[in-house]
Amino acid sequence: MNIIKAKTLNDFYSIAAWKIAAQIIQKPDSVIGLATGRTTGSIHKALAAIFDAHPFDTSRVTFFGMDEITGVDREYFGSCYYMLLHEVVLPLHVPMENYIMPPTRSDDFAREGENFIRAIRDRGPVDLQVLGIGENGHIGFNQPGTPFNSTVFLGRMEETLETRIRRESNTPDDVDLGGLTIGIQDAMHSRRILLVANGSNKTAIIKRAVEGPVTIDCPASILQLHPFCDVVVDPEAAADLTQR
Ligand code: GLP
Repeated sequence: MNIIKAKTLNDFYSIAAWKIAAQIIQKPDSVIGLATGRTTGSIHKALAAIFDAHPFDTSRVTFFGMDEITGVDREYFGSCYYMLLHEVVLPLHVPMENYIMPPTRSDDFAREGENFIRAIRDRGPVDLQVLGIGENGHIGFNQPGTPFNSTVFLGRMEETLETRIRRESNTPDDVDLGGLTIGIQDAMHSRRILLVANGSNKTAIIKRAVEGPVTIDCPASILQLHPFCDVVVDPEAAADLTQR
């Protein structure tokens, strides 16, 4: 792993955003997997600012979101589709046909998952996969205990996230909410990975993911075995790291 400890929170956002911009500048037809959340949301804002200040060709880049909440409307502001559309796709003027997402509603998510991963593979190998990390070590919706060879599947959210989304999206209790996610194996097949984390709520899990044993109890720990994984952390998330 290549660990980059940013000196300030702003540097953290900027370093991570420039890594995504650089990927597109170096290879304009890159296939890039994105993640949603507070961490990546701020990185995407920094990426949009970079694009405004230093425009680059985005007509051939393909973006997809690594996971999606199921059981809500796509238009709900907390769906991954909605967030990535407004945070990245529209601000960077990416053609809509180059934005790949699974649906939020379906009666057959096994089929939707297969279609989703096939649509990504049809564009070629994934050049860069951006990953956030949950406080329990999850990546996408691959929660602790998920086998390392998982491929796209309909998983579950943590209870706190599910409760918030149910409230925000006015989803009644009898409607199932889930998380369709690319699997750990799918993410590991990417040419490069960019793992990002900031804040004191990520200090402990970043230490486990980067310096702890590789175990399914901490899904992100498998990234230690990826040949090209950058880990960008802010001073708070990096606080307990002994390495470098
Ligand atoms: C959700 C997403 C993950 C993301 C995580 C971290 O669970 N499914 O892909 O990594 O949130 O979110 P945050 O950056 O808000 O801590």
